[in-house]
Amino acid sequence: MNDDKNYYIQLNSKVEKMLKTSEFLGSGHNGIVYLLPNNRVIKIFKNKKVCQGEYNIFVKTRKSKYFPKVYEHGPYYIVRDFASGKRLDKYIKKNGINKKISLNIIKLIEEFSKLKFNRLDIRCKDLYLMDDFSINVIDPKNNYSKIVIYPRHLMKGLNNLGVIDEFLSVVQVERPKTYELWNFRFKQYLEENIK
Ligand SMILES: Nc1ncnc2c1ncn2[C@@H]1O[C@H](COP(=O)(O)OP(=O)(O)O)[C@@H](O)[C@H]1O
Ligand SMILES: [Mg+2]
Repeated sequence: MNDDKNYYIQLNSKVEKMLKTSEFLGSGHNGIVYLLPNNRVIKIFKNKKVCQGEYNIFVKTRKSKYFPKVYEHGPYYIVRDFASGKRLDKYIKKNGINKKISLNIIKLIEEFSKLKFNRLDIRCKDLYLMDDFSINVIDPKNNYSKIVIYPRHLMKGLNNLGVIDEFLSVVQVERPKTYELWNFRFKQYLEENIK
């Protein structure tokens, strides 16, 4: 019992120490994220299970360049790399999309397949775009628990930003087979949701 208590006190003071030299970055449904001095961030979770779930995803993605490196974690926190780029949706809203970004989105979903994710989808706002147009995932969710066979949410975001046709034209040229599935499913989804 006593050992347990000490363990938590130790972790809390460690987190407290980290937070003293940090700067608020943002918050979401699950937690609050602070920037640490060494180009890392700490995400403090409201829920222990959500923290563990996100950590489990990072264990499986630790060799992937699309996901942040994790440095340490506790029951309620994860320390990982800061993503210095711009939020993908905000970037596209201002600058539009281009071939390189489109191709990197395709490659990201291919990476999800390689990582054996069941959910081959992610929201635009959970992707950060670097200066060289490479993409980083900041907030992975349900990648193993939900089954989604094409990036519907992602395409919905691109559709709202008015760039879905440009994106799909790159998919058509670069990955004709993938195009068949994504285009067919997405058009079907749009039709179903107009009715
Ligand atoms: N690695 C990161 N680099 C830069 N900003 C980040 C990073 N992680 C999170 N943020 C900021 O913190 C916010 C909340 O983090 P997020 O992981 O999305 O939490 P939640 O799971 O609660 O949605 C994000 O919307 C973003 O603004
Ligand atoms: Mg989020």
